[in-house]
Amino acid sequence: MKDQFGRAIDYLRISVTDRCNLRCIYCMPQEGIRWVPHSDVLSYEEITALVRIFASLGVRRLRLTGGEPLVRDALPDLVAALHAVPGIEEINLTTNGILFSPMAGTLKAAGIHGINFSLDTLSPETFARITRTDRFSDARGAIDRALELGFDRVKVNCIPIRGVNDGEIAAIAGLAKDMPLEVRFIEMMPIGCGKNYTPVTMEEVCRSLESVYGPAASCRIRLGNGPASYVTFPGFRGHVGFIGAMTHTFCSQCNRVRLTSEGYLKLCLHYSTGIDLRAPLRRGDGEEALRETIRAAIARKPDQHHFAGSSGEDAVEQHNMNAIGG
Ligand code: GTP
Ligand code: 5AD
Ligand code: SF4
Repeated sequence: MKDQFGRAIDYLRISVTDRCNLRCIYCMPQEGIRWVPHSDVLSYEEITALVRIFASLGVRRLRLTGGEPLVRDALPDLVAALHAVPGIEEINLTTNGILFSPMAGTLKAAGIHGINFSLDTLSPETFARITRTDRFSDARGAIDRALELGFDRVKVNCIPIRGVNDGEIAAIAGLAKDMPLEVRFIEMMPIGCGKNYTPVTMEEVCRSLESVYGPAASCRIRLGNGPASYVTFPGFRGHVGFIGAMTHTFCSQCNRVRLTSEGYLKLCLHYSTGIDLRAPLRRGDGEEALRETIRAAIARKPDQHHFAGSSGEDAVEQHNMNAIGG
């Protein structure tokens, strides 16, 4: 399925819940937020029905996100149902890892290919400061468990925050020295609570890594479906990725749309532009009508984000990241 700029859309990010068991400072306010009521959240049957339609339009890869996807009951049941949808070739998960280890085997058996763990620090104290919880060992242990079970691809996402974890950049990248995984650094985006922080640029991150590990060698192999660009350093088993959401615009290669837990099809991370799919689904619109609705919406996908200097625009996303799934 192509949008109006000729971009092929074959990747759908599905936020299965806006709830989360952490309270990361750049994602949610300390006092919490009002959760979406359960009756407004798509059921697994509804998600699967929509994915069947997306697959018929050319979507091949799915990523389950949240909030924290593993706080939703029986997530492996959804994974198994999505895995059985004709056309779906790959299902990945983005998680904070807290609930991962006990469920890891079931998730793999249900059909999860790769896992992206969000982990911003290797220090339990800094973890408590960033996430406002003391669950560091569960989060860190999840990475070992995923490698032990042999998931196709294991990645660690880290957002450097000035004065909080920016002194740990080399140590965190070091996970990819010792283990066969990808560590990705992400520029903080001004969405929700992320607006309170200035991004550490990927140039800065790369410079500080080169000062410790030597020259970065860019690597051309495909390591995912997303916007990261990868390098490796001498002696590394894995790779280091950079997601320069602010300083590099990768929008011309964008391959994705997002489905929120409430069934809203979001066309670009930066904008609230999109369309509600829950109402037509619940009122019984047939597959063909939904297919047309989705096709027409995707044709309107914005060309790119305008994070730099866009605060005046109506459609700019006002939700916190927990409602979007990254
Ligand atoms: P793979 O590379 O396929 O593993 O996935 P991914 O990087 O797309 O997924 P992940 O959930 O790990 O996202 C990592 C970061 O990339 C998150 O901080 C997202 O907010 C950011 N990101 C993902 N998709 C987009 C996008 O379309 N636009 C922008 N600006 N950022 C994105
Ligand atoms: N800017 C960039 N990335 C963010 N994430 C959450 N909030 C932001 C933000 N403001 C990341 C998380 C997670 C991914 C799904 O989105 O760290 O790895
Ligand atoms: Fe795609 Fe929008 Fe992300 Fe750009 S900001 S890569 S257009 S979703």
